[in-house]
Formats: sequence, structure tokens, C-alpha cells
Amino acid sequence: MRVGVLTGGGDCPGLNAVIRAIVRKGERVHGDEIVGFLDAWDGVMNRRTTPLTVESMRGTLPRGGTVLGTRRGSPFDHDDGVDRVRAAMSDMGLDGLIVIGGNGSLSVAEILHREHGIAIIGVPKTIDNDIVGTDLTFGFTTAVQIATDAIDRLHTTAESHDRVMVVEVMGRHSGWIATHAGIAGGATVVLIPERPFDIEEVCQRLVRRHSRGRFASIVVVAEGAVPAAGTLDVAERGTDDFGHIRLGGIGNLVADEIGRRTGFETRPVLLGHVQRGGTPTAFDRVLSTRFGVAAIDMAHDGCWGSMAALVGADIVSVPLEVAAGRTRPVDLNLVGDVAEIFFA
Ligand code: F6P
Repeated sequence: MRVGVLTGGGDCPGLNAVIRAIVRKGERVHGDEIVGFLDAWDGVMNRRTTPLTVESMRGTLPRGGTVLGTRRGSPFDHDDGVDRVRAAMSDMGLDGLIVIGGNGSLSVAEILHREHGIAIIGVPKTIDNDIVGTDLTFGFTTAVQIATDAIDRLHTTAESHDRVMVVEVMGRHSGWIATHAGIAGGATVVLIPERPFDIEEVCQRLVRRHSRGRFASIVVVAEGAVPAAGTLDVAERGTDDFGHIRLGGIGNLVADEIGRRTGFETRPVLLGHVQRGGTPTAFDRVLSTRFGVAAIDMAHDGCWGSMAALVGADIVSVPLEVAAGRTRPVDLNLVGDVAEIFFA
């Protein structure tokens, strides 16, 4: 077979491990030719490619980022986008495409397959871990480890100065990173998009804790966390080039309010894209490798319109429509039954 591969959306540790596995199994076991498209859909529409071989992928397993480059945006942003994708695939003799992407890319892939008959297999990617249909996405454990390492370091400086540290982590629609890093890092409070927060209640918790003789606290805030209606004004944050609300900054606001309302010295720490960079954890390398192997096998089984997913301990094929247009909220039992036992 001749199969194209692209990486779409934000980058994520483990992307290269997926590509490497597709190439390895495709070339060595199935005798495939794998074509890499550069910069996501842009590369397909403008036919910018790079050959992907076992040789060219050597040394990429531990490398963060993506050797293919990535972009946001899709063929639907252009009047002739879908026709250009179809023409490129036919002229290049491709049997299908493997799209490694997050919610946005998988939703685009699902429409291209369902409405336009384009042969696509998806691989779920995002540090946010918010894709429906898979128990985990690769990149998530790496982001959690990075955030946890940061929180560990913040404990000692917070304790030395008797400060509250407000750590903003990624998580546009879901609090997976915040909840896991909060549990792993021993946070005092975790604020997530799934549960609008009352800043006054947060402050009271901190005051209670400090009245018991603990003078340092860590508050973890997901970037998509929102105050409960009428509790705190959030300035209009604007949108990026793709119409997504620009996030980032809730940590500053929460830190300002805590400092103002409690009188405790408070500092914001924005981890930002540090969480997405660098080498994947061993777990993410294994998960990425399993996803890549499954994706090329699914192409040979004719499972177009599906994505590789982790369900329990197994990698299985699930229809793309399961994931398309949805986001997976954090398990609130994990928050209520486990995380909050340790919160102030
Ligand atoms: O990869 C998902 C994500 O990390 C979100 O949590 C975050 O809002 C977004 O990417 C930011 O990405 P960028 O700055 O690349 O648009």
C-alpha cells in the first residue's frame, strides 16, 4: 500500500514515536511506502511531502515535537480544499491517510471520510486527554509528569516564603492535567473547567488551612477553568486566528484575587507550552508505538473511518464519529472520591 501520514493541531510528545511505528510496521512487515505530509493539511493541499522510511525515522523515538511539522486549520478553510485533498491523494496513488490529531483534526477527518469518501484512519493525540472513545491519549502522562515536577519544586519555595503558588496548567475544556498533577503534586486546591469555582470559597479553604499552621499552599488551575456565574469578572479574552477563545491568564486572575482577599503573599506560575515540549515519558512512547502499529494494521484491514483507541488494556478500532465534535470531561469521581480527600 501507499499511505500518507500527517500530524495536525498542537504538537504533543509521542508524535514521532507514532510515525516511527507506522513506518516500521508498514515498511518492514507489510511492504508499504509511507509518505509524510508537511505541516498538516497544508502539506496535503499543496503537495509538500517527505518520504518516511525506517532509516529516516532513526533516533526519533525520544524526540518531542513532530518531524512532519503541524498546523491548526483544515481543508474546509478553503473553497477548493476538499477537491485538492482528493486530487493529491489520487495523483500520488495513495490508498489512504493516517491523521494523527486531537479533537479538531479527528472531527475534520470524520467529515472528510463520511461526507467525501476519503479513506482516513485517525490516531488520537493531545496532552489534554480529552478525546472521547479512548481511555488515554499519548502525551498526557508526559504533561502530567512535567506539571508534577514543577509543583514539587514550587512546594519548597512556597514553604520558604509562606506563599500561595497558583500554577496554571493546560486543559482548554477538561481538567485532566490539573486533576492528575494536583493529586500527584499534593495540591491544596484544583480548579477545572468541569466545575466552575467560587473564588471566595477557595480563599476560605486557604484561610482554614493556614489557620491550622500550614503557611504554604499550591493551587492548580486548568487554563479553561471558569468562575461560577456572578462570582468573579473575567475580562474578555478574545479569539485566535481559528476562532478559538484565547486562554491563559486565569492563573494570574486567581492569584491576584487570592492575594487581595486573604492577604497571603501569592504568586502565579504559568507552565504553558513547557508541558508540550521535550521527550515523552516511557509510558507515552509505548502507547504511541502501539497506536502507530495499530493504525497501519487498520489500513490493511480496511478500517477507514476509524481511529486507534486504548480501551482497558487493549488497542482497538473505534469509529471516528465516536470522537468527532465531542470532548471527554475529567472523571468527576476521581475529583470527588480521591483528589478532594487531600484538598484543604
Ligand atoms: O494541545 C492542546 C492544548 O495544549 C490546549 O490545552 C491549549 O489550549 C492549546 O493546546 C494551546 O495551543 P496553541 O498555543 O498551540 O494554540
